[in-house]
Amino acid sequence: MTPASAADAPAQAMTLGEAWIQTAQALARAELDFGHGCASADDEAAWIVLHAAGLPATEAARFAEHADGMLSAEQVAQVHAHTTQRIATRQPLAYVLGEAWLVGLRFSVDARVIVPRSFIAELLDQGALDPWLPQAPQHVLDLCTGSGCLAILAALAWESARVDAIDLSADALAVAQINRAAYGLESRVQLVASDLWSACDPVRRYDLVLCNPPYVPAASMASLPPEYRHEPAMALAGGDDGMDLIRRILHGAAAHLSAEGVMVLEVGNERAAFEAAFGQLPAVWLETALHPDAVCVLLAADLRAAFSQAAGA
Ligand SMILES: C[S@@+](CC[C@H](N)C(=O)[O-])C[C@H]1O[C@@H](n2cnc3c(N)ncnc32)[C@H](O)[C@@H]1O
Repeated sequence: MTPASAADAPAQAMTLGEAWIQTAQALARAELDFGHGCASADDEAAWIVLHAAGLPATEAARFAEHADGMLSAEQVAQVHAHTTQRIATRQPLAYVLGEAWLVGLRFSVDARVIVPRSFIAELLDQGALDPWLPQAPQHVLDLCTGSGCLAILAALAWESARVDAIDLSADALAVAQINRAAYGLESRVQLVASDLWSACDPVRRYDLVLCNPPYVPAASMASLPPEYRHEPAMALAGGDDGMDLIRRILHGAAAHLSAEGVMVLEVGNERAAFEAAFGQLPAVWLETALHPDAVCVLLAADLRAAFSQAAGA
């Protein structure tokens, strides 16, 4: 199946396994970038085929069990259309399908918001933050919430927690609202439009702040593969050294954390830049399945000591 033949030939019913082989071959030939929740053409092909079959992407782990199932001609036509769109536009597949999957959960997404892929999700899902918390957090902040994925995962992880979710982008908050409703979390997840800490409740002290901010350095922004250029630049761009937002976040953090509060900060591949900028700060790096040091834990007391004059960002 080439994009052209996929669009031109009348679709015929076939098995999921046959559709997967055709789709994977077409995606592989197109030399796409697979950095948005899927690692390969094979993985994306499974997602496209499962989506057409009305199955969740999490079934990719058991694809062989579905391989002999039949797709109707209409479903095969949908596979062709999504494959053609992915190749022709170089949009992340999540935008083509209108959904992203993170630690087994579905989130609605479109080009108004970055595709969820935070390393923090795995830490929440596996309870890896619990050893850092004196007790289950009552007040959690997801700073730079995007689709709301981390706020929702935090609310699901700690059932009595109230979670504030901040973003500057009205578009992102509109998508977060869709996801919050999908999980029925309107009463515990509050969406807040704010430039970082600026509209944060001045009285509230958070037990836990989760933050996956924009941290891509300017030089990397200039050479992003096409897929990343479909995402909002304000979700990625972190200035010359990637630390522009993080500087403001760290300077304001102590004022919004409880005495034993904890901040969990994602910096992706930018640990060296982080240490060059904030070498004085004791950060503990947490390993995840796909990255040894993309996320660090910072304690309120250390943030207070390092940025003692900070009263807000
Ligand atoms: C890397 S994305 C993370 C989104 C989400 N937490 C996730 O993990 O998928 C960063 C988010 O920060 C938001 N953002 C950028 N500048 C901001 C600012 N000054 N104040 C608040 N949010 C900001 C962007 O709109 C974007 O949604």
